[in-house]
Order: sequence, then structure tokens, then C-alpha cells
Amino acid sequence: MRRVGSLVERLKKGEEVANRHDNPYVREAVGFEGILFTPDEVMPKFPNLFEQNGRPLVIEVGSYLGKNLIEIAKEVPEANVLGLEITYKRAVKCARKITANSLGNARISICDARALLPEIPDESLDGVCVFFPDPWPKARHEKNRLARKEFFEILEKKLKPSGFVWFKTDHQPYFEYAVAAARGWNVSERNIQPKILSKSSYTTVFEQMFLSRNEPVYRVVFTRP
Ligand SMILES: C[S@@+](CC[C@H](N)C(=O)[O-])C[C@H]1O[C@@H](n2cnc3c(N)ncnc32)[C@H](O)[C@@H]1O
Repeated sequence: MRRVGSLVERLKKGEEVANRHDNPYVREAVGFEGILFTPDEVMPKFPNLFEQNGRPLVIEVGSYLGKNLIEIAKEVPEANVLGLEITYKRAVKCARKITANSLGNARISICDARALLPEIPDESLDGVCVFFPDPWPKARHEKNRLARKEFFEILEKKLKPSGFVWFKTDHQPYFEYAVAAARGWNVSERNIQPKILSKSSYTTVFEQMFLSRNEPVYRVVFTRP
């Protein structure tokens, strides 16, 4: 698994990074102290990353350009929301939006969610949103899917007893794969939303794209066994 975020950590320590890694977003990421966290920074502080800690905590995996992260933070000010994003460019764009909107209840981590989630203390999350993860449609690539059996096994430990995974995809085989991977979990009716996230539909950028093409979208809430 890729170790994501280490370039930011090296720059913060004053080390130089090779030219081939000279991505302007890596340098910009260094400036978002207290907003954008590397995996090494998240864990010692977790869950105290926000202006007001001790509130319900929702994680969004794959925050992309931050649309949903910002929407959740604004619509649910009584909760904290942490985005996990694997690319520097997208994590920085999320950090810019958190800063521009002065949101004390939203933070972003540049990381591979598959590496970070197992490190989270048990029973510390109220919910995890996984919206339109890469479907890896070829059979030989299925192992790259995020919503695998192991993913649900980890989240069963990390979520509070009433915790949820809100999953959306346009890809029917992935939807069925995720339902099978979440064996033992409670599976909601289609289009039900988690109670804490019921103020808006939280339509994502990818969701808007599929809906505009009249393509089906599969939405489900899994709650802990
Ligand atoms: C297909 S996009 C969906 C974006 C957004 N959730 C939406 O629905 O519009 C998937 C996003 O997940 C991010 N991503 C993919 N694998 C990831 C991982 N292992 N950890 C964190 N983010 C990941 C990608 O960089 C991308 O921003």
C-alpha cells in the first residue's frame, strides 16, 4: 500500500524533496497547519483535530474537491467531519475550501484511507461516508475495491454501536459486491439516509454527473451488526 503524505512530512522537517516530486500542491499542503493533516499528524491528535472536540464524528472517504465535506460541515454544525483524500491536489482543494469557509468542524487528511482507518481508536466514529469509490470493474482488479469484507470488519470495530456506513455508487456490480461484503450488517432500504445526515441529499459531484445522464445510482446505509 502506498505511504501517502510523507512528502509533506519531509518538507515540514525542512528536508528537500527530489524534483520529480515537485508538485506545487505538496508545497501548498505544508501551509494548511491545523486544517490538512498527514497520517503521522492525525493519529497522535485523533479525534481532537477540530475547534470543538467531543462531538459526533463522521469520516468521508474520497473527498475529491470538497463539495460534500463542506456541505456536511455547514449543514451539520453540531458534528465534526474529517475527509480522507489520497491525492495532494484534491486534499489541498478541500483545505482551501475549509479555510475559505472558516469551518472549525471540517478537516482533511492526505492519506490512503485503507492505511489510516485501521489506526483509528475503536468505537470512535459515528459514521463513514463512501461516495462513488472507484469501481474497479475488471474481475482481476476487484481486490482494489475499497468496500471489501476487510473494510467492513475494520469499521465494525471503529464505529460506535449505532454507527453507519453510507455507501453510494453508480456501478450495480459494486453495489452488490458491497452488500455481500457487509454480511451481518443491517442494510437499509434504497435511498434512506443516516439520521445525522438527513438535512440535505448530499448529492456529490459524481452523483450529479450520473443523474444528469439519467443513469441509475445505488444508495444504501449499512449499520453495524
Ligand atoms: C470517483 S471519485 C468520487 C469523488 C466524490 N466522492 C464524489 O462522489 O463526487 C473517488 C475519490 O476517492 C479518492 N480516493 C481513491 N482511493 C482512495 C483511498 N484509498 N483513500 C482516500 N481517497 C481515495 C480519489 O482521489 C477521488 O477523489
